[in-house]
Amino acid sequence: MKIINIVGARPNFMKMAPIIEAMNKYPEQIEHLLVHTGQHYDEKMSKSFFDDLGMPKPDINLEVGSGSHAEQTAKIMVEFEKVCLQEKPDLVIVVGDVNSTMACTITAKKLGIKVAHVEAGLRSRDMSMPEEINRLCTDVLCDYLFTTDHFADENLAAEGVSKEKIFFVGNVMIDTLLKHKQMAAKSAFGEKLGLQPGRYATLTMHRPGNVDNKDVFEGILEALHEISQEVPIVFPIHPRTRKMADQFGLSHYFKSGDEIKGIWITEPLGYLEFLNLNMNAKLVLTDSGGLQEETTVLGVPCVTMRPNTERPITCEVGSNIMVGNDKNKILQEAFKILSGEAPKGRSPEKWDGKSAERIVDVLLNLF
Ligand code: UD1
Repeated sequence: MKIINIVGARPNFMKMAPIIEAMNKYPEQIEHLLVHTGQHYDEKMSKSFFDDLGMPKPDINLEVGSGSHAEQTAKIMVEFEKVCLQEKPDLVIVVGDVNSTMACTITAKKLGIKVAHVEAGLRSRDMSMPEEINRLCTDVLCDYLFTTDHFADENLAAEGVSKEKIFFVGNVMIDTLLKHKQMAAKSAFGEKLGLQPGRYATLTMHRPGNVDNKDVFEGILEALHEISQEVPIVFPIHPRTRKMADQFGLSHYFKSGDEIKGIWITEPLGYLEFLNLNMNAKLVLTDSGGLQEETTVLGVPCVTMRPNTERPITCEVGSNIMVGNDKNKILQEAFKILSGEAPKGRSPEKWDGKSAERIVDVLLNLF
């Protein structure tokens, strides 16, 4: 069986790494190629993850780079079509919900190639999120849908997807987390920055809904500033957030002096560095998707600055609290955690480090 695995943006790499590793155990049965669309291309957004995760170099890089959604999607489709025609795979595997995921699905499907989606069935029901559009388009076209939890199974069933196409396998991103936890602990990255375990917070924020409007962005920064007077906040800043902060004149919210308090800006961090910071944080503030899942497994309280989540399992059994982007709500929940009222969580079913193996087992049975 010949498979093309697709990655494009940062959150794809840690999902694909364990799948490749599991496929490598079956060299006789599975021939696989790795295609990087080039959606993320900065050293810190892409290459450093390949190094940290021990991933093979992509066999093919489409080098599409940044652009509007239509431009980026279209460029990926044009370039990936050439690859499909040349390589004639039996199956294309896409992960997550980024533009590369949807673009490669549409392209392969129109050429009559089967497509599998890993992390299928997640729904925020928020059509202002580009990721929700990507998820819906991808799932409706895919032949095999690998899911992380019962909510995803229910969503797909409610949309009329037949049961034979749905495989509940757990969470491949957690495979990677469990595999690298010890190594991340050893890196002692936080201590090297002068941070004490349990006495700082981490932050990620890049959603257009939070950073593209000056008033919304500033309201969040005001809340974060107040929290950071209690515990320093480490903020590996996404390129688009930095761009918007500069454009709106909001960069003065970020710490510049030697004082420990404040919002510390860093470049985007490597996988192990960031895992080390998160596992020892008192709390995590985020608008990302994956971090809601990682904190659930790490048992670290997570304050999610979004009005909704496609990952409700992290609130049902995990340590995640949704607060939207209202300044007072962010402050209220963060200070509750700082005063010791932290949500306790447990790992969801099958988030056990074996999800990629389950996927490969399914594929070996299917092909
Ligand atoms: C993408 C995903 C989002 C994911 C995020 C993680 C989509 C629709 N969005 O958002 O779901 O959470 O990745 O990071 O696919 N840029 C750089 N260097 C890079 C890549 C991007 O500077 O290596 C800058 C460019 O100015 C670019 C902007 O970031 O225009 C946005 O990049 P893009 O890939 O369009 O989306 P993300 O916001 O990164």
